[in-house]
Amino acid sequence: MTDNSYIDAGVYEHLQGLGLDNWVDPVRRAVDARLSEEGHGDFARWRDALGEIEAATNTTQLRHALMALRPWRKGPFEIGGITIDAEWRSDLKWARVGRGISSLAGRHVLDVGGGNGYYALQMRAAGAASVLVVDPTVLYAMQFQAVQSQSRTEQVWVVPLRLEELPLPARRFDTTFSMGVLYHQRSPLDHLQRLKKTLKPGGELILETIFLPGDEAYARTPIDRYARMRNVWMLPTMRELETWLVRTGYRELSIIDTLMTTTDEQRTTEWMTFDSLAAALEPNDPTLTIEGWPAPHRVIIRATAP
Ligand SMILES: C[S@@+](CC[C@H](N)C(=O)[O-])C[C@H]1O[C@@H](n2cnc3c(N)ncnc32)[C@H](O)[C@@H]1O
Repeated sequence: MTDNSYIDAGVYEHLQGLGLDNWVDPVRRAVDARLSEEGHGDFARWRDALGEIEAATNTTQLRHALMALRPWRKGPFEIGGITIDAEWRSDLKWARVGRGISSLAGRHVLDVGGGNGYYALQMRAAGAASVLVVDPTVLYAMQFQAVQSQSRTEQVWVVPLRLEELPLPARRFDTTFSMGVLYHQRSPLDHLQRLKKTLKPGGELILETIFLPGDEAYARTPIDRYARMRNVWMLPTMRELETWLVRTGYRELSIIDTLMTTTDEQRTTEWMTFDSLAAALEPNDPTLTIEGWPAPHRVIIRATAP
């Protein structure tokens, strides 16, 4: 029997409240499986860190325990007087997203690949009725618990699952986000189709992903790495991405924002000490990755599910 107490059991009531009774058992089983397959060494260390965070009586202890949950990829967080300066200035992306989405007030939101819940907390603060994050990385669910243990936000959950582990169709969400996830999927069109199956008719998809610059419609697969990442599968141009969305049945596409990621937004910090974007770019030409690909251009697109 796995210790499932790291996942707030309130999530199961939430699923029932959304009419997703048929998710409860599969989600519980999949979470059990995910936690039990986690390497024992790391998991035990993270569990101890969570205990220390809850027991901390001063900022030195709290900081030390939060550091034990590194790497912090998304942030910043302010916890107990400590600033967690994560690898990504996720607040910058959130500001760009916020400019283009309709109000989240009263909406039930699904954030697929939502990491440690940084964005989910912003979504809830922006008025969402609830936010469910699914992201298979167990460390991120533990980071979310750490944040929640210091300053609790109701109606937000981070569950360590892949989108593919959820029974679909389940057209119960008003808004579904997929940010920074599409290029990690071997079958990006299947991903778009699954996202659609989470949305109520007329529901809103917010998709954020990397695209290749240029006017033509095509996609390319890096033969090995892209910006040092091994798990990048398909990179479309903007026109190709629009084709993917139309072919998978979305309507009313609109581009909210495009930009090239900067090393101010994604960088090494004391909370994420590994190499970051700067080490993935060609030193003499930062418009290219070290493999010779265009450096990451990112787009945020809104689309409607029929
Ligand atoms: C580059 S991060 C993006 C995190 C965040 N959404 C953002 O925009 O900053 C990609 C995340 O997607 C998660 N992920 C990858 N494949 C997934 C899948 N099939 N279902 C759910 N999450 C997935 C990874 O664990 C990782 O946390």
